[in-house]
Amino acid sequence: MEYDPFSDAAMRDPHALYDQLRKSDGAYFIEKYNAWALVHFDDIWKVSVEHEADITFTAGQPLTNVLLGEPVPHAFPSMDLQEHRKWRRIVHADYTKSNVEQDSERITALARELLKPLAENGAFDFYTDYVNRLFAINAGYNLGLPPGDSIAWRKLIDETMHRETGQIGTSSARNQAAGAELFQQLHAYVRKIRDQPDLAGGHIRKYLEAEVDGHRLEDQDIVNILIIFLTVGSGTTPNVCAGAVYYLAQHPAQQQAVIDDVALAPRAYFEAARYDQPTNILCRRATKDFSVRGRQIKAGQNLLMVYASGNRDEAEFERASEFDIFRSYKRDLTYGIGGHKCLGMHLATMAGTIALEEFFKVSGRYTVDTPRCTRFYGEFLSGFDHVPVQLGR
Ligand code: HEM
Repeated sequence: MEYDPFSDAAMRDPHALYDQLRKSDGAYFIEKYNAWALVHFDDIWKVSVEHEADITFTAGQPLTNVLLGEPVPHAFPSMDLQEHRKWRRIVHADYTKSNVEQDSERITALARELLKPLAENGAFDFYTDYVNRLFAINAGYNLGLPPGDSIAWRKLIDETMHRETGQIGTSSARNQAAGAELFQQLHAYVRKIRDQPDLAGGHIRKYLEAEVDGHRLEDQDIVNILIIFLTVGSGTTPNVCAGAVYYLAQHPAQQQAVIDDVALAPRAYFEAARYDQPTNILCRRATKDFSVRGRQIKAGQNLLMVYASGNRDEAEFERASEFDIFRSYKRDLTYGIGGHKCLGMHLATMAGTIALEEFFKVSGRYTVDTPRCTRFYGEFLSGFDHVPVQLGR
């Protein structure tokens, strides 16, 4: 088979392709991108842990940066470890498990407020009407943004990530127009809070006041941070929650179990994150020659960490292709591994679990309108972006 992460099939739903790729005994070389796709759990783990000093993040992490050469934003996900630590530490403490737990009551209250009118109506889109709004508002709150602005900017980010059928990269007029509008609005916002620092809360205040190597951050640095946190803070966890609700509808006994006992919600969350990992592929570039299970990686070659495939690797997980909230396992790739491991993992786990628990408390036995469900179309995020539900009566 031929695999191209920008092919229509891969952008629609890559899992069938990954199932095929994992039948080979190692990484898959994509000549036209001078790239190795690491599709086996153990290969991704080993490169992340044992070869972290032999790879660079400075070519970016998204496929559009590393394979297509699109401009790389100056922000800590695309920095190598020494530099990376100086920037990540500015907000690191806000994301420890104990610190994010202080937000559980606020997030629960927000989930209830959003769900109340939806539950009264009985039929709604679990993704667009509920979880996507919940996480956009919450990401904005963490950044210190007014809720209306964070929802509007999140919509513009969605527009920059929109791909027409067959579109490769972010070159469409729709992407460019949304990107220009987003930059203009965010720069205006940063100028405003520089003039009136009391308006800035949350992370943004920290970034305004922070110094790295004795220098204050540029406006562009703060805009880049805003975009990254709005994107990853609101565009991943909702997909996991939407996946959990979708797959539970396909497994009625498991659905009944979580409705009877909402304490099973974390299991539903983790299994959906394993089964349908949303940050699908992130990339690196080799800076030295090294080998991975007999494949010779050369300096300068690109590496695709195909997390969504690793998380379904039969060599790591028993019955990997089955959705089973009762499974147990020792390790997973949901939040990555190594120095760039997800900063927001505790927040995502806590808030995702709350979003599901609150839904199961009001849902009764619900149904999903499967033919109307859709998935993101694109090379990066994978997962559901429309899941119409009808609550039980
Ligand atoms: C289910 C939800 C989420 C998943 C599956 C996820 C997954 C990931 C993965 C795989 C990485 C890359 C690790 C690597 O490079 O190896 C990452 C990085 C990151 N994530 Fe998450 N993430 C989620 C939610 C969040 C949330 C809610 C935030 C909010 C702050 C967040 C913030 C970040 C940041 C800032 C990075 C870059 C870390 C760095 O380069 O040091 N993520 N995430």
